[in-house]
Amino acid sequence: LGTALDELLRFDSPVGIATFRYTTEPLTLGGTDIPSGVPVLIAPGAANRDPAHFPDPDQLDLDRTAKDHLAFGHGIHRCLGAPVARAEAEIALDILLTRCGRLRLAVPAEDLQWRRTRLMRGLESLPVVF
Ligand code: HEM
Repeated sequence: LGTALDELLRFDSPVGIATFRYTTEPLTLGGTDIPSGVPVLIAPGAANRDPAHFPDPDQLDLDRTAKDHLAFGHGIHRCLGAPVARAEAEIALDILLTRCGRLRLAVPAEDLQWRRTRLMRGLESLPVVF
């Protein structure tokens, strides 16, 4: 389950775009000149789909080793709650998969609505039957 969880976090990161950073000096990144003192938004979710790091990145592969994903950010501001979030997800998924073996979507997958938000990507609701 731990391996699958890392791949799920990589494949569809709940926090696709980090909070604002500010440049402290001018720099050139990917051919773009960025002056000093301006806000910069980085997208860990995009890094999680980098084909140079994760081969065939648009493929969900629950056997993939993706533990170096950036879904919890990176560096000094890496998510403080990552161990709690991981534990919660592992416990919830474990219970769902063992107690609700017949769990399935109650609506066609294409009818699911994603929240229109920059932070904390997720579904409006997930109707299921079991
Ligand atoms: C699946 C669930 C979660 C995900 C995907 C997630 C993701 C993230 C990410 C990407 C950042 C870094 C943002 C940035 O660099 O700008 C972050 C920061 C943070 N997260 Fe989470 N988080 C989750 C759950 C939690 C939980 C459960 C807690 C608290 C119990 C928490 C507390 C924090 C705090 C305090 C920070 C700020 C750390 C800092 O600025 O030094 N997170 N989180």
